[in-house]
Amino acid sequence: DAARIPVICIDGPTASGKGTLAAEVAQRLGYHLLDSGALYRLVGLAAGKAGLSTAEDDLRQPDQAQRLGTLAAGLQVRFDGPRIWLDSVEVSDALRSEVAGMAASRVSAVPEVRAALLTLQHGFRRLPGLVADGRDMGTVIFPDAPLKVYLTASAEQRAQRRYKQLISKGIAANIDSLLADLEKRDHRDSSRAHAPLKPAEDALQLDNSGLDVEQSVQQVLNWWQGKTVFS
Ligand code: DC
Repeated sequence: DAARIPVICIDGPTASGKGTLAAEVAQRLGYHLLDSGALYRLVGLAAGKAGLSTAEDDLRQPDQAQRLGTLAAGLQVRFDGPRIWLDSVEVSDALRSEVAGMAASRVSAVPEVRAALLTLQHGFRRLPGLVADGRDMGTVIFPDAPLKVYLTASAEQRAQRRYKQLISKGIAANIDSLLADLEKRDHRDSSRAHAPLKPAEDALQLDNSGLDVEQSVQQVLNWWQGKTVFS
């Protein structure tokens, strides 16, 4: 019974550090990991390869939304730890770009796309457990999860972190445009009609502005221990 397999959900806005935190917690617990944002990034990438537009105006056309849903349902994807292949081509680096993130945010507002990715996401719930990060893990995909964390940090903090990340990879970046993009993405992700970004009612809020990765990991592990001791 899949419902008995433990899931820890980590939701939050762009660049809040969800990915790092989720991967670390999964590793400590020996759990599987679902980076749900990667799935929406893959749909954006696959759309580009198939010559389908992901411009907002086009996505509002019902037949275009339908086509994108069909594409998402037939996604040929393979995961191996942090590495990801689309149609047998490794796309791990391409997926992480700001452009891919923006395209993901646009296609993720299409209900047909969200519906197409549902079964794929549920399939990640395997023993001994799962850590899932995204925007709607606790609200829509795994509403029965025993632990839901809503991770936040100020937009300035998040832009600053993203900036450092890019610079350290040798990629040129501009802090003001990063901040503007991030706020645009936050706005789109939280204001959409389907599965918007918001904390689940039973989510525990974690503001990691003043915390390092290890402190955030410890907080989540402490919460998890509290849940498992009494259940
Ligand atoms: O977490 P991320 O930056 O990789 O996500 C990219 C985009 O995908 C994000 O801007 C919105 C969308 N997304 C979503 O709608 N639902 C999720 N569970 C995860 C991501």
